Amino acid sequence: MEFTIAVLPGDGIGPDVTGEALRVLEAVARRFGHAFDAREGRIGGNAIDAVGTALPDETLETCNGADAVLFGAVGGPKWDDPGARVRPEDGILGIRRSMGLFANLRPVRVEPMLANSSPIKRDRLEGVDMIVVRELTGGLYFAKPKKRWRNSRGRRGVDTLRYTEEEVVRILRVGFSLAMARRKRLTSVDKANVLETGRLWREIATEVADDYPDVEVEHVLVDNAAMQLIVRPAHFDVVVAENTFGDILTDEASVLSGSLGMLPSASLAGLPDHASGDRAGPVNGLYEPIHGSAPDIAGQGIANPIGAILSLAMLLRHSLGLEAEATAVEQAVRGVLAEGYRTRDIAGDGGDVVGTVRMGSVIAGRV
Ligand code: IPM
Ligand code: MN
Repeated sequence: MEFTIAVLPGDGIGPDVTGEALRVLEAVARRFGHAFDAREGRIGGNAIDAVGTALPDETLETCNGADAVLFGAVGGPKWDDPGARVRPEDGILGIRRSMGLFANLRPVRVEPMLANSSPIKRDRLEGVDMIVVRELTGGLYFAKPKKRWRNSRGRRGVDTLRYTEEEVVRILRVGFSLAMARRKRLTSVDKANVLETGRLWREIATEVADDYPDVEVEHVLVDNAAMQLIVRPAHFDVVVAENTFGDILTDEASVLSGSLGMLPSASLAGLPDHASGDRAGPVNGLYEPIHGSAPDIAGQGIANPIGAILSLAMLLRHSLGLEAEATAVEQAVRGVLAEGYRTRDIAGDGGDVVGTVRMGSVIAGRV
């Protein structure tokens, strides 16, 4: 089959890791006889330098015209001036918002052979297999007013935490649908003891739960959830949280897997229906490792490309409906880890420490 994929490497280690994901994509094309047309676009700091905006219209058109988007990372000290008019992050936020990618799926698994790379005690990591469903187009990230100003008493700033019923319902439904296909446990995260949006969230979660009687639901306050993630991570199956809470909790959860560099994510405008065999065709979505641009190690050839490569696997599965291909990529990753290949960030147990390109190449070779 033929597919078009928009590739947005971005800044820092973004180009390093997306380059390896593309290498793996070529291997998938050869093995399974597909043709992938990868179209590159600028985003983030390098787009600001080139054309003055973090998300050029051209890039957005490339994304909208593609079957799926593979994204690297944006940002870096060069563009970090708090007074700057444009910021690299506007690029990714703009795509999420304009493509309506409200559902961010962040699976967290612990590969047993990497358990020694995690600072968490090994026995707690046994059986960790959760997916965090982060709301991605609402809340503090986007709601207005959002501004900074100055009055006679000094500087002021405001961000707005606002959610509509529709936004809360649709993200919870994504969570419940996923739970139905998994261990049927859903943790709804909120701050209902303090925030009005938290009380709204809990009320709606309780109502939506009625439609999924087979799913065991719990409501957990976000501060407590942050603690439980470390104390008993294996307890969690599907965790649903609003935008900012989901952002924070997933960086925390990544520690379980041994490294932020390991984790993939998918951002979708809805959940593709895998159950019904008659899919209408590709469902556009954006796929990115959850790590950032890591400017401190950019261009050194040492970044871990596995988060990007596993994001590619999610792209193949969720947007292109290529399940066997996605599984082949995931098995290739597991295979090279079992053989002892390690990038620096996951070398806690020794093993054969390799750079970004070598890791990408051995994974592609196994596909
Ligand atoms: C993430 C990142 C982004 C976010 C930044 C780069 C805007 O931290 O994808 O988790 O906060 O959503
Ligand atoms: Mn984040």
